[in-house]
Amino acid sequence: MKKKSILSVLGLIALSGVALSAQAEGNIEAGKNAFEACRGCHTSVGTSNVYPTYYVPKIGGQVAAYTFSAMKTYQGSQRPHRTMMANTHDLTDQTLEDIAAYLAQDTEGSTTAIANGGDKVKGKKLAAACMACHNDDTAATATNPRLAGQHANFLEKAMQEYQTGKRNNVLMQSMVQGLSEDDIKDVAAYFNSLKGLTTVK
Ligand code: HEC
Ligand code: HEC
Repeated sequence: MKKKSILSVLGLIALSGVALSAQAEGNIEAGKNAFEACRGCHTSVGTSNVYPTYYVPKIGGQVAAYTFSAMKTYQGSQRPHRTMMANTHDLTDQTLEDIAAYLAQDTEGSTTAIANGGDKVKGKKLAAACMACHNDDTAATATNPRLAGQHANFLEKAMQEYQTGKRNNVLMQSMVQGLSEDDIKDVAAYFNSLKGLTTVK
């Protein structure tokens, strides 16, 4: 992957802060109730998406601002995933805030993270360029997604979709465009090997 100057990375950090700044207070109890409809897929380890096959992402302990923004991207079709578009399309912003607040504090579920056989030592070197943003910050002010402990094939799939533009996100496209297929596998293996996200309890 090409080296980025510190300045350009800082610029992008500022940009990502603006993109994800929509934030209000979420109600955890209301979020828990609203999440009932989501439990079938997001509460057991190893549930798979089919065509293509990859594991449903772990979202327990995820940064609230990111969960909110991810659901907005399904609603707005920047992430054209049919099931998630259908599951979020009629939810209000308040409900999304509530669900995001609920998920951020739900960290008692399984930590099992399914691996992909990639080389995490190589992956760690490549990930140096990512740590400014993906440093597993769980503070209430954090905005960037946690990747630590995510199922590896979901991380691979997300990176591939930024590369192809299927996930329409200019920032992340620029971050991963220089990664080869093997690089993606190794970076995913590295973040997968860290302790972090949980399956929702
Ligand atoms: C039929 C299974 C299914 C149901 C039901 C479902 N999801 Fe998902 N969810 C998925 C899959 C598969 C993905 C990964 C989609 C992709 O590739 O972008 C996902 C992705 C997500 C993400 C993005 C995670 C990330 O790291 O980017 C969030 C947040 C999420 N779901 C929340 C919810 C909420 C909230 C509900 C209920 C309103 C819900 N899901 C219902 C299967 C499901
Ligand atoms: C300037 C900050 C920044 C840098 C540097 C950065 N990212 Fe990201 N990353 C983000 C943001 C913001 C998102 C959420 C984008 C979206 O809404 O789809 C994201 C999303 C992701 C996702 C999807 C997460 C999910 O749960 O769906 C992966 C995987 C990822 N980044 C990997 C990387 C890798 C690998 C690198 C280094 C090569 C990197 N990122 C560098 C800010 C950054």
